[in-house]
Amino acid sequence: MKRLVLDTDPGIDDALTILYALASPEVKMEAITVVNGNCPMEQGVINALSVLELAGATHIPVARGMDKPLLLPVINAEVTHGKSGLGYAELPPPKASPTEKHAVELIRDLVLQDPGQINIVAIGPLTNIAMAVRLYPQIVDAVQHLYIMGGAINHCGNMTPQAEFNIYCDPHAASIVFHSGIPFTLVPLDVTYQTLMTRDDLNMFAPLQTPLSDFVIKASSYVMKYLSESQEVMGCALNDPLALAALFQPNLLDINHLVLDVDTNYGVSMGKTFADFYNYEQKPENGYAALNVRARDFVEIFIERMIKISQ
Ligand code: RIB
Ligand code: CA
Repeated sequence: MKRLVLDTDPGIDDALTILYALASPEVKMEAITVVNGNCPMEQGVINALSVLELAGATHIPVARGMDKPLLLPVINAEVTHGKSGLGYAELPPPKASPTEKHAVELIRDLVLQDPGQINIVAIGPLTNIAMAVRLYPQIVDAVQHLYIMGGAINHCGNMTPQAEFNIYCDPHAASIVFHSGIPFTLVPLDVTYQTLMTRDDLNMFAPLQTPLSDFVIKASSYVMKYLSESQEVMGCALNDPLALAALFQPNLLDINHLVLDVDTNYGVSMGKTFADFYNYEQKPENGYAALNVRARDFVEIFIERMIKISQ
């Protein structure tokens, strides 16, 4: 059983990841911590609580996190995820409230109370994680592993020609995390843009006609429309669910130990992540990155489990 804290900016693919975690007996989601990203942090908290209620998982605590990047101004992704952050889906306001404890303190407490047992799956900007390793550096050696949906190595960006959204939102946080010594695996657009849930895949949810299947259809359809019109990507890229899969289904990915870094300079390549494949500066490898994936195998496992939880 892999235990995790999900750090997230829910967000459509984030919401699908929450559901995929609940549909996967191999993992135990101990908590959800929210960060500014796809939508403002407060809206992300509402979305996380609402998705947990939809799935009957209100026992899982949700904590409010950082509501702005470390240095840059706030940006969100309304064009991709809609004003609510959940596309066309409309969920009732949540009955539950977030924890009193801040996300960074909740991460600290969960990781330190069970050293070596807790993973972090970070599927939004890395502001919470950067604050955690700065305030409580002892978590670097206590966390089992950090899985990051973010970056683009040999792939173009989806926010700028160079940069992927999560990293672009807070490149300074990403730099702190990449150089903190924390053991991490990057799950970049190189692999996540291969894992596309197609319209035919989504049509498999239509006969179910449950609140959850309806949510999956309405949320995913929004981002599918955006991606097809803006990037000619024909499907819902399962960016965040693949980062969760890296935790408990690593056999689906080809992972390399690399010298990884990010451009924090203000300019056209701000937020660009890169690997020094030839190690020109003779630095020690500081992280792992997934550069290939058995994409259709993953999508089919994802669809099968999501249909099962949607019934
Ligand atoms: O670039 C894709 C990432 O940015 C995903 O995590 C998506 O949810 C957005 O946060
Ligand atoms: Ca996300």
